[in-house]
This record gives sequence, C-alpha cells and structure tokens, in this order.
Amino acid sequence: MSEPRKILVTSALPYANGSIHLGHMLEYIQTDMWVRFQKHRGNQCIYVCADDAHGSAIMLRAEKEGITPEQLIANVQAEHSADFADFLVDFDNFHSTHAEENRELSSQIYLKLRDAGHIATRSITQYFDPEKKMFLADRFIKGTCPKCGTEDQYGDNCEKCGATYAPTDLKDPKSAISGATPVLKDSQHFFFKLPDFQQMLQTWTRSGTLQDAVANKIAEWLDAGLQQWDISRDAPYFGFEIPDEPGKYFYVWLDAPIGYMASFKNLCNRTPELDFDAFWGKDSTAELYHFIGKDIVNFHALFWPAMLEGAGYRKPTGINVHGYLTVNGQKMSKSRGTFIKARTYLDHLSPEYLRYYYAAKLGRGVDDLDLNLEDFVQKVNSDLVGKVVNIASRCAGFINKGNAGVMVDTNAAPELTEAFLAAAPGIADAYEARDFARAMREIMGLADRANAWIADKAPWSLNKQEGKQDEVQAICATGVNLFRQLVIFLKPVLPLLAADAEAFLNVAPLTWNDHATLLSNHQLNEFKPLMTRIDPVKVQAMTDASKEDLTASQTDTGDAAPAGNGELAKDPLSPEIEFDTFAAVDLRVALIVKAEHVEGADKLLRLTLDIGDEQRNVFSGIKSAYPDPSKLNGRLTMMIANLKPRKMKFGISEGMVMAAGPGGEEIYLLSPDSGAKPGQRIK
Ligand code: 2FM
Ligand code: ZN
Repeated sequence: MSEPRKILVTSALPYANGSIHLGHMLEYIQTDMWVRFQKHRGNQCIYVCADDAHGSAIMLRAEKEGITPEQLIANVQAEHSADFADFLVDFDNFHSTHAEENRELSSQIYLKLRDAGHIATRSITQYFDPEKKMFLADRFIKGTCPKCGTEDQYGDNCEKCGATYAPTDLKDPKSAISGATPVLKDSQHFFFKLPDFQQMLQTWTRSGTLQDAVANKIAEWLDAGLQQWDISRDAPYFGFEIPDEPGKYFYVWLDAPIGYMASFKNLCNRTPELDFDAFWGKDSTAELYHFIGKDIVNFHALFWPAMLEGAGYRKPTGINVHGYLTVNGQKMSKSRGTFIKARTYLDHLSPEYLRYYYAAKLGRGVDDLDLNLEDFVQKVNSDLVGKVVNIASRCAGFINKGNAGVMVDTNAAPELTEAFLAAAPGIADAYEARDFARAMREIMGLADRANAWIADKAPWSLNKQEGKQDEVQAICATGVNLFRQLVIFLKPVLPLLAADAEAFLNVAPLTWNDHATLLSNHQLNEFKPLMTRIDPVKVQAMTDASKEDLTASQTDTGDAAPAGNGELAKDPLSPEIEFDTFAAVDLRVALIVKAEHVEGADKLLRLTLDIGDEQRNVFSGIKSAYPDPSKLNGRLTMMIANLKPRKMKFGISEGMVMAAGPGGEEIYLLSPDSGAKPGQRIK
C-alpha cells in the first residue's frame, strides 16, 4: 500500500454580500466530490474555504441596510454555511477573510514582499466623490458612453455598444453612490511588482499546474508583458489597514487568496495534529489545489503564485478551472426564473439530484455546463431511480420475505462481480482527473449490466415456481452485492444515498477499497425507498419561486448575472432621491390608442397614448419585445407624463412609458390592474 497523500483543497471564497446560487454551487459541488473521493480512498484531504468579506461593495451594502459590515458578514456567513451544509458540501473549515489569522498573514506576506523590494509606490489620479468623501471604483461611476452616447453606463464599459474605456472618458460622470459629480484627486498607491516574477511564472504555468486552455490564455498575458498590480485602497474601506501606512487598506483581492491560508491556519489552531508549515512551507510535500471559475484565473495563476514565491511560501500544485453554468442553454436569468438561489432549489428538491446531474456533465475542461431542466429530470429519474436504486428494490423484498433478510453466500454472477471489480481503477482514474462525467458513464454502464442480468434471471418469475427458492436467494444476494459496489463508486457524489444504503446493508461506512469484497451470509436491515423520482411540478415550482425572489429581493441586480464567481455584477446602488423629487413625477395610467412601427428605426415603436384629457405621442424602445405592435392597441400601461418633451430623429417624444426587464425579447410593459382609467394619477 502506498502512503496516504496529504492534500489541501480550496474553492473560491464567495463574497459576503450575496446569496449562493446554482452557478456558485457548480464549483462547490465539483470540489466537494473530488475531496470526498480522496477521503474515500484513504488520503488525508483537507477542504477549506471562507467568506470573502472585504471591499467597498460590502461596506456600502452594510451602510444601505443600516448595519455594520461586521453584522452583514456575520448574517451572510450564517446563510452561506447553511446552504453549503444542506448541499452536502463538507468543508473541514469555513472561515472569513475578516479574521485575525488573515490580518496577520496578509501583513506578514506584504512585509516580506516589501522588504524584498517587490512593492512600489506612486501617486495615481482617480475620481473622488466629494459628498461621500471616497474614491470611486469604476463600477461606482456612471455617465454617458463616450463612443455611442448611451446614458447611464458604468465607468469601465458600455453595455450598449461594448466599448471599454477609462472612467475619465465618460461624459457627464456621476457617482453611483451619491449622485454627485466626481472630481479628480491624487493619492499614493501601493503596487505589487508582478513583472519581477515573469520568469518564474513562465515556467510555473507550463509545469502541469494548469489545464492547457488556461495555460494558453495565461501565455497570452505573459507574452504581452505583466503590469504592476495596484494592491491598495484609500479609506474609507472595509478591510485591513496596510502596516505602517495609516489610511491605506489592502485591496480585497490581496487578502482574499491569503484567506485560504488563514482558514487553514484557523483549523490548525484547533487541531493539534495539523501542522501549518507542512502544507504551506517552502519545502512542503503536500499537494495544494485551488478550484476556481474561469473568470478569476489571473488572480490565481499569476498574482497568487507570485505573492507566494515572493513571500517564501510554496506554490499551488494545480489550479483547477471550471466553466460557467448556463440554465436551459442560456445565461441564468432572473426574469426566466433560472437565476436559482441555492436555498430556493433546496426548498423544492433534494441536493443529490443536482450533485448527480453536475457530476454526469462535468468533464475536466473549462467548458460551460448547461443545466437543462428537462434533461435534469429525465437523467436523474432514469439513472439514479431507474437504474441504481432499482437494483436494490428489485432484490430486497425477496431476501426479506424468503430468507428473513439474510443474504446467502452464493455468487450467482461471478463474471459480473469480476467486471465491476475490473472497472474500479478506471472509475478511480476518472475521479482523480476530475472527469466526473466519465466516472458516471462507467458506473451507469455497470448499473445497466446489473439490471439486464437481473431482468434476464427474473427472480420474480422464479419465485412463483416450486423448488427455485435457492436460486432466487442467490440472484437477489448477488444483486444486492452489485448494488453495494455501485454505491461505493457513487459515494463521493451521493453521500446521503450512500448513508441510507449503508443503513439498509447494515454495514459500517463504506470506503473505496470495500468494492473488492462481497457480503455473504449477511443480515440486511429493512429496505426503505432510497430515492424518489423528481416530479417536474417541483422544478416548475422552483423556477416560479425564483421569479418571486426577483421581486422580493432588495439586493438583486435586476437582470442576468455571471454564473460563476464573478465579482458581484453591476452594483445596484442608485442615488437616493428626496420624497419631493418623487412627488414631482406625474405618473399616469395611459391607454395605447395606437402602436406602430417607425420607418427607419430599429428599436422604436411610436405610441399614441390617451391620458384622459389629451393624447400624447411617445417613442419607446420596445420593438424587440413587441414585433407586432398592433397587439398593444387598446392596452393600458403607465407613463411619466411630465417628462420634458424630447426632440428625436423621428419627431418629438412627449413622455415615457414604463417597462421592466433586461432588454431584447425580455421587455415587459407595465400595466395597472383592470378598472384603472386612462389619465388617473399613480400614487
Ligand atoms: O470572484 C469571487 O467571487 C471572489 N470572491 C473569489 C475570491 S477567491 C480567493 F482568491 F479568495
Ligand atoms: Zn456605448
């Protein structure tokens, strides 16, 4: 027997200001299955994570909710921990980056880098909110796109025309926090001199640490030449103050990966047999893997190994990158009900359905994974209920009734048990390589063979014949043994099913090596159904509830967001307005008398609106959602009636109708309840 491996594993740290959704879960489930596999095989494998608790987004959200950042991150940590536990993601430690261990390690790493000459300082000029008295990150600045003139665009790119630019290029910039016009201001920043590590990174990124596709992407960045990385932020900021630099804070992405170490350190402090240096020291022989999404590769495959190298720590053995999640072939969408929070899923469905579906579709590459909800129902029902559980339920009853629940010691299918045994190394290799899809295919292939064999032997027919009882018992004992082998292979993916199967089989927790033995002359416990079929009604209820989350949630950003670990998509903060400002808006019920195409306009419809005492002509960019405008004729909607008339290319627009949704086909014109009359004011 070879020595157990020592392995430390992490998943990306989720931000402490939002809920976990099924896009996040892809990564945590992937990592958890791999970790469980390692433990199942007898290796020492430790899985740590933490909430990523720093940064201005968290500071501002706490402020908006009227609580301290510490309260916010404590609330979110409780929510995240419950979501992970209920999805059977079994961290050895789930910590927070806002913790003493992290403060110490971050300071120490920074000081080592500084003392080795890897930190530079220089002054940079940035937009500053004179009301909030804070520097503004790009996504807290809004203005008019310098390229296409679209209003209300963020400080780094235009959602309309896709242009990228510096915030200083925006026309009419405004702070998205206070609404104030920002001013340019200088301040001293601290930079990590990444170019010092160019050589090392060139070698390290090509040494088997990265998937090929990732290594190729990184090579492009390396070829383009590395830039120094700005690691400081000015007060006010929620984070750690930089040693010897009052008023300067570490940028959230500096202390986030150090949070991996800090979480492990926190675990070591409570676990005498764990030695921090044995895992992180320069000469560590332990393996270290970070599981991440493809959006944060630069932080993990460039900045992080360079920081570790510069501060005298070991570097990761591998960065395991996965793609994004799509649902029904598209980006997760709140309006379609496919932006599904972990908790909303759990309110309707068992975690193991999703764990299995992800496993069945997860290869070792960086391709996106599609959760097709129809396929999900079909695959789980067919594979888990129809194939795996079916074997046990077909056999258990006969053993219970015919032999008081005792499995006889005859193996009625030695070739099949041998084939299961022979398949084990290939399944293990697939798990090891994170090719869960291959592992599941092989396991289901075995389940098919077991079912075909049982169908062929038809114990239910034999049982009706005189003198066939021994044969029935031999077939069913063999069937249960085959089921047990499948459970052993599936245990990293389906720990609950495995625990229930262990209770039925009346055995101690199964480990990988148990697949090489068989039960004989063995007393079983009563068989209880191990898994029920997914009812598609529950899936529908889950998507319906996800649409409701949209209206209920204050923190949602209003439309599609990246399904991965992307930094929270565009921040939803809008400047507060005084009540008087709101009261000055003349909102009215409007009857669409006529809706028509506008010659030469791609996006606009011309609406003739009746608002009681007058008719208005309004141009509205809703054509993509209403290609047949006549369908709108006679419908009630809502409009802003006292908007200053705007001269447009096609005429004057006298107001604005109200619609919701991200755009394209998903634009929904608002309507009042029936009974409302044109011209009535909305209060
Ligand atoms: O992208 C994200 O969601 C980050 N919170 C991930 C941090 S991973 C690590 F570096 F801490
Ligand atoms: Zn633009």
